[in-house]
Amino acid sequence: MTTSRPIFGRLYPRMNRAMEKAGISVHRERLLAGLTGRVIEIGAGDGASFPFYPDDVTHLSAVEPEPHLRKHAESAAEGGKIPTEVVDAAADRLPFPNAHFDAAVVSLVLCSVPEQTEALNEITRVLRPGGQLRFFEHVRAESPGLRRAQRALDATVGPALCGGCHSGRDTLSAITRAGFRIEQLERFRFPETSVPMPASQHVLGTAVAPA
Ligand SMILES: C[S@@+](CC[C@H](N)C(=O)[O-])C[C@H]1O[C@@H](n2cnc3c(N)ncnc32)[C@H](O)[C@@H]1O
Repeated sequence: MTTSRPIFGRLYPRMNRAMEKAGISVHRERLLAGLTGRVIEIGAGDGASFPFYPDDVTHLSAVEPEPHLRKHAESAAEGGKIPTEVVDAAADRLPFPNAHFDAAVVSLVLCSVPEQTEALNEITRVLRPGGQLRFFEHVRAESPGLRRAQRALDATVGPALCGGCHSGRDTLSAITRAGFRIEQLERFRFPETSVPMPASQHVLGTAVAPA
């Protein structure tokens, strides 16, 4: 299920280093805190989240369709403290049986999948009933002006420039529509620039899969 985006695949590790300077590690750590058991991370990128998985995670399946990023993720997985397999697959077709995982993680990914509903339905399938979805995503802005900027960007160059990313998706509604119950939710701007950018409105939280 390889999706080759060679320019984005080469640029993203650098973007990640810039985000680390801006403080993203704190959010990665909070996203993953308290996870246990068997976990799937969808669209793991270069594996930047791997060091933040708690020791109680017994196995991590990291799905990444972009070959360049997948190589980085494989290197990041080597020697990590959690047993991690890096798998070539896409969110809408996960090569795992039903109810296989205790938790699923999406970090800056639901902005990029072609169809959020298909991805979330597939995540529900591989999660055990009552399993957790941990999410950290940039979403539709609250202010009308910024929403207009998001719409303009998403309808023009945004997805092509940023690996298929849409700045202004209503991801929380998509999560709820897929049957998840949102249990914890924080909204904040990242990075905290004086002038907000189209993709700076973030949500971080936990949702529970239907029983
Ligand atoms: C902005 S990056 C985020 C990477 C990583 N999750 C992080 O937090 O740094 C978006 C990732 O989603 C992946 N992606 C895009 N479409 C996908 C799909 N349909 N299924 C799974 N992953 C996808 C991209 O290849 C990329 O690795």
